[in-house]
Amino acid sequence: MKTEKFFSEGDHSWYSVYDQDEARVIDSNVYAVQVDGHTLLCDPGGFEIFPQVFSALADVLPPSSIKSAFVSHQDPDIASSLPLWNACSPDIVWHTSKLWVSFIRHYGALDANIQGLPDEGGELVVGTSRIQVIPAHYLHASANFHLYDPTAKVLFSGDVGAALLPPGHAAFVDRRDVDTPAAFDAHIKHAEFFHRRWMPSNAAKRNWCERVSKLQIDFLCPQHGAIYTGKNVARFIDWFDQLDVGSALG
Ligand SMILES: [Fe+2]
Ligand SMILES: [Fe+2]
Repeated sequence: MKTEKFFSEGDHSWYSVYDQDEARVIDSNVYAVQVDGHTLLCDPGGFEIFPQVFSALADVLPPSSIKSAFVSHQDPDIASSLPLWNACSPDIVWHTSKLWVSFIRHYGALDANIQGLPDEGGELVVGTSRIQVIPAHYLHASANFHLYDPTAKVLFSGDVGAALLPPGHAAFVDRRDVDTPAAFDAHIKHAEFFHRRWMPSNAAKRNWCERVSKLQIDFLCPQHGAIYTGKNVARFIDWFDQLDVGSALG
C-alpha cells in the first residue's frame, strides 16, 4: 500500500493509506489524522491487510502516536484488524456506535477499550483538535457515523463515496487545479453499483446529502476508491442525491 499526506498545516496532518496489494479482499483505504503528535485511525481495516497498513503507516508516523481509532460501522473490512492493533497497543481507545460495541468484540478483542457513541454523534478529541462525529445511519449500516474535521475541511465518509477501482489506482479522483468533469464521470462509473446495492434507504441518503451540503469540504474521503476534491465534492453529493438506492428490492 502507499501512503499520501494530503493535508498539512502546522502540527495537523491527514494521511491516506490506499491501493492495497492483496486483490482477493476488497480494496480498502485507511486514513489517519495526526494533531500535536496524537494520531486517530479512521476505519483501521481488515485482519488480512493489517501488515501492509501497519508498515505503510510506520513509514510516516510513529505507531506509538496512535492513541485512538474510529470505526464507522461493524464490517470486517473496517474493524477485523481490531485485535491485532489492540495487541500492539492495548492503550488505543476505540470509538464506534454503542450498537456495535458488543458485536465488534466478536473479532476477538474482549479486553479492548471500546467506547460507544450515541446515535446523535458528538466529538472526538485528537490532540488540541476536535473532530465532529456526524450521524450517517443506514448508509449503509443501521448504526453508522462519518467524521468531519473543520480545520482540515476533511469529511471521512466511510462507505459513502466508495468506488471499486482496479489495482494501481490513484489516491484522488482528480487533484489537478483545473475543473475536469470528465474525470468525475469516468470515476463514478466504478461507484454506481456499490451505492445502488449497498445503500438501502433513499430517505437516509437525502438526510445525509442535506447535512453534509452545509459543511465546507475540501476532501471527501471514502473507505474504498479515491478522494474527491474541489468541484468533485459537490458533484458527488449531487450525484448521490439523484441516485435511486436500495436496488435489490427491484
Ligand atoms: Fe460497509
Ligand atoms: Fe467498506
